[in-house]
Amino acid sequence: MKKLIALVLVLVLCLSLAACAKGATLDDVKKTGKLTVATSPDFPPFESLEGGKVVGIEVDILNLIAEELGVELEIVQMDFDSVLTAIKSAKYNCGMSGITANEDRKKNMLFTDPYYNAAQVIVVKADSAIKAKADLEGKTVSVQTGTTAEAGCQDEGLTVQAFTANADAKAALTTGKVDAWVVDNLTAIQMVEEGDGLTILEEKMTEEPYAFAFAFGSEDLVAEINKIQAKLIADGTVEQIFTNYGETYMKP
Ligand code: ARG
Repeated sequence: MKKLIALVLVLVLCLSLAACAKGATLDDVKKTGKLTVATSPDFPPFESLEGGKVVGIEVDILNLIAEELGVELEIVQMDFDSVLTAIKSAKYNCGMSGITANEDRKKNMLFTDPYYNAAQVIVVKADSAIKAKADLEGKTVSVQTGTTAEAGCQDEGLTVQAFTANADAKAALTTGKVDAWVVDNLTAIQMVEEGDGLTILEEKMTEEPYAFAFAFGSEDLVAEINKIQAKLIADGTVEQIFTNYGETYMKP
């Protein structure tokens, strides 16, 4: 009986420790010499795979930030919805995934200041009768699981098919399983350019800011990164990075 009570106590202790896992401080990160970064590299031009390596606008920005902090980036790949869970539970230091910093997510994690103003767009087949947001009524749309597109389309009362991988959300449209695909603007441009007879509607679904995500407890690390990021925005470095990828920079 005593053994059982002891076991239960240990279990409760483990669970409560796990529940309040804290994000790394600036000092923690400097001591380990690395910033661990969780990402879903299916989101060009922000993060995608090139010969097994994660490349993109956010990789370039974070590399400059890491350099200023005097640490290395350690990038770990996973699905988009896992990125959010991994950051919430402080499994990795930083979430890099074109993450929209919204009020809902701010209940569960910290965000840097936004660095880019993005939008959700509607992608349809070039010959589709859907020409505007209002035409989506009663239609089926594909989205990536855990994204603001998923939440937004559900709020609009649309029939939503969610896919873990972004490419599968697109494929659902090209193969005619859904009527439209809702995704972030620059990713839409890049993935529509792959040439599958798709087109992006002029009318946007939403506008939303991107930021890097951290676990609660990383307040001083986020403050330091905000300073570095502000400098990189002010001196035109961030804009130059967007230009390097052929994109126009939209300041938040
Ligand atoms: N901006 C959207 C969100 O935060 C989509 C991000 C998807 N990112 C990705 N790497 N697949 O929900």
